[in-house]
Amino acid sequence: MTTEKQTFDNKLHSRQTTSGGFGLKLKVWRQRNSKQKGNFVEYNVDDVSPDMSFLEMLDVLNQRLIRKGEDPVAFEHDCREGICGSCSMVINGSAHGPQKATTTCQLHMRKFRDGETIVVEPFRAKAFPILKDLVVDRSAFDRIIQRGGYISVNTGNAPEANTTRIPKTAADLAMDAAQCIGCGACVAACPNSAANLFVSAKLTHLGMLPQGQPERAQRALDMVKQAQAEGFGGCTNVGACASACPKEIPLENIARMNRDFLKASLFARPKRQEVGGV
Ligand code: SF4
Ligand code: FES
Repeated sequence: MTTEKQTFDNKLHSRQTTSGGFGLKLKVWRQRNSKQKGNFVEYNVDDVSPDMSFLEMLDVLNQRLIRKGEDPVAFEHDCREGICGSCSMVINGSAHGPQKATTTCQLHMRKFRDGETIVVEPFRAKAFPILKDLVVDRSAFDRIIQRGGYISVNTGNAPEANTTRIPKTAADLAMDAAQCIGCGACVAACPNSAANLFVSAKLTHLGMLPQGQPERAQRALDMVKQAQAEGFGGCTNVGACASACPKEIPLENIARMNRDFLKASLFARPKRQEVGGV
């Protein structure tokens, strides 16, 4: 009977051998845990198929390390389809690697040349502490979402489609912003480790829609304040975030966030004290 592991190994093997493999040298950041110092370790990976994704190439390396009884390289992944945002790492100095608008899991090895040296390291930002090797703790993003990335009106059952009319431009802006997958590449690319592109995408996603209006001002105040509390830096309009973003979230969201934040700071009423359900 073929085990799940054998099937996985066979799949990788067929990827390696079907389309003219090539060799690479990897310099991978290895760090045992958040307390110990890390360093780059060099590995040679042979027989890499141009059709492999970058993560499949790391799988090949890890299978080899496991066979030798060594600790495999820890890296995050889930969907491998560019939608979950977990495959965050820096490849040759670029968050998610050299291909524009592409997550690491969708990056293919045909982007690299035979004999090339590839440097792989984790996202580096004070608010994203390294947990192990290429894995960083991005729970700061979760806490920002907890402060306002929701609506609390009761929308009831799914309404008839045309009950609430939404202008096409507003719907488009909201949908485009909703593409943010929370990967953190914007933070990794920013020289100040600012999270403004991420926060502004989340604010735009809700702030463009009628359902998001009641809490729009308070949401802007709370989410921006939480980002500051998490240790993300301030935006200095470099624009590296938008260049690195695999979902091409535009900078105009940051301008919208700044307007909302300013307006809210000047005019928002203080939060109602919810004592005894009043
Ligand atoms: S704005 Fe782009 S880079 Fe930043 S978390 Fe969202 S998808 Fe990732
Ligand atoms: S593994 Fe989900 S976006 Fe890459």
